[in-house]
Amino acid sequence: MSNENKSIHEFDFNLICDYFSSMERQGPGSPEVTIKALSFIDNLTDESSIADIGCGTGGQTMVLTQNAPGHIKGIDLFSKFIDLFNSNARRLNFQERVKGIAGSMDELPFRDGELDLIWSEGAIYNIGFKRGLNEWRRFLKTGGYIAVTEASWFTNERPSEIFDFWHDAYSEIDTIPNKVKQMQDAGYIPVATFILPENCWIEHFYVLQMEAQEIFLKKYAGNKTAEALVSNERHEMQLYYKYKDYYGYVFYIGKKIN
Ligand SMILES: C[S@@+](CC[C@H](N)C(=O)[O-])C[C@H]1O[C@@H](n2cnc3c(N)ncnc32)[C@H](O)[C@@H]1O
Repeated sequence: MSNENKSIHEFDFNLICDYFSSMERQGPGSPEVTIKALSFIDNLTDESSIADIGCGTGGQTMVLTQNAPGHIKGIDLFSKFIDLFNSNARRLNFQERVKGIAGSMDELPFRDGELDLIWSEGAIYNIGFKRGLNEWRRFLKTGGYIAVTEASWFTNERPSEIFDFWHDAYSEIDTIPNKVKQMQDAGYIPVATFILPENCWIEHFYVLQMEAQEIFLKKYAGNKTAEALVSNERHEMQLYYKYKDYYGYVFYIGKKIN
């Protein structure tokens, strides 16, 4: 497999962490989109318990905290992201309501029925959309919500170059109606679905990466893995510009009613 097609998981974790930790977010999204998704959720109070799974350094978690009541636990596999997450929470004076915990999404530290809301932007793919929806459901109260973003196809057909790229990177990518059915089959009412606008990928993600790449390449000059990581990210960005009519991230919001 060439570096061009290398999945990000095949690179050194510390390098990935270093690359992404300088950015406010580690995946496509925006404050406006987080707030829009939140507008479909009507069960929250000051006593609510919210989990943000695969929270990264907390870009979207801090937006959630500013716009929703309740207490939020952010979970991420990388303790370096969690350290940055907790220092972001302290900087914004959210430390009473927001706590970052290092841990894995396949072994969540919650009791059955504990949560009012499960949030996960650009991260459920790590466990798989179907598995995540099914396994996390038990942590929600009756009447609780789940809101996740997931890579999805916009059309029934697509050019083979982009099909092959995604098939290697995340074979669970599927069309929006199929994802909605998976949500329904996992025991949620599909409350809302919307496509993230292009600015979530371009202004809020790739443009920020372009600046970070220059700094990263200087810091790791001569390091082949670092160079391969950057070229992998650049290739992914070029594919996005070329094929953005065919795929993107979609917010899927579901409600557990029993
Ligand atoms: C694309 S980033 C998205 C981060 C953040 N939600 C955002 O939108 O900016 C995916 C995140 O999932 C985390 N992650 C990967 N595998 C994980 C696992 N098994 N458990 C928890 N977090 C995981 C990564 O460390 C990373 O922060």
